[in-house]
Amino acid sequence: MLFTTSNKILLLKVVIHLSAFLPLLSLYYLAFNDQLGADPVQEVIHFTGIGAFNLLLVTLTVSPIAKIFKLGYLLQVRRLLGLYTFSYAFMHLVNFLAFDLQLAWSLFFNEIVKRPYITIGMIAFVFLTALAVTSLNSIKRKMGKSWQRLHNYSYFIAILVSVHFYWSVKSEIISPLFYMLLTIVLLAFRYKKIKELILSMFVKKIRSK
Ligand code: HEM
Repeated sequence: MLFTTSNKILLLKVVIHLSAFLPLLSLYYLAFNDQLGADPVQEVIHFTGIGAFNLLLVTLTVSPIAKIFKLGYLLQVRRLLGLYTFSYAFMHLVNFLAFDLQLAWSLFFNEIVKRPYITIGMIAFVFLTALAVTSLNSIKRKMGKSWQRLHNYSYFIAILVSVHFYWSVKSEIISPLFYMLLTIVLLAFRYKKIKELILSMFVKKIRSK
């Protein structure tokens, strides 16, 4: 009875905590001890950005895997993965604001307006924040059906982030294109659901006219 479902969930959660939290801890340890190479600011922005995107894609992989292999219990670790996605994205934003812009808020708002890749990153972050805040069970219960509608925006966030990544690079486009492809594959699993969502949005628009 060692591998009961609740033990498997517990084990998975421990693995997620270790593999998401320890790299972040070691990143800042190396950064504050001057061991991150010639451009530590770029390095922390890069690490947290890629980390957030990896975690977002892993979160989106859970439900197709649970469905295909009939492992329903996997759905119970989605919230934890989503919260780590948000935490990495939050640190990505903090790194940019504190280390790159030296907390120059006016410059930050300028960047949001002037650089399309920052605008898109910011929109993605606002949606991620909404998903993280509403992931609490008490809020989920209160929101009823609109909770699922809001959480479907994770697909939209993935598209925004792949565009943000693609636009942020100057020359090396192989990895952003690879991530874009991964995003498309993951969204293709939800083809029917996404089609229904888009159709229902159009129907609502037509009815409101
Ligand atoms: C909160 C608003 C955001 C800001 C201000 C921001 C800012 C930046 C900046 C300055 C870069 C580096 C560009 C360069 O190399 O010069 C970057 C890259 C990147 N960002 Fe963001 N970002 C934001 C949101 C996000 C979110 C929500 C994600 C993922 C969930 C993300 C993922 C990435 C990735 C994957 C890269 C490429 C990393 C690299 O190769 O260096 N960003 N972002």
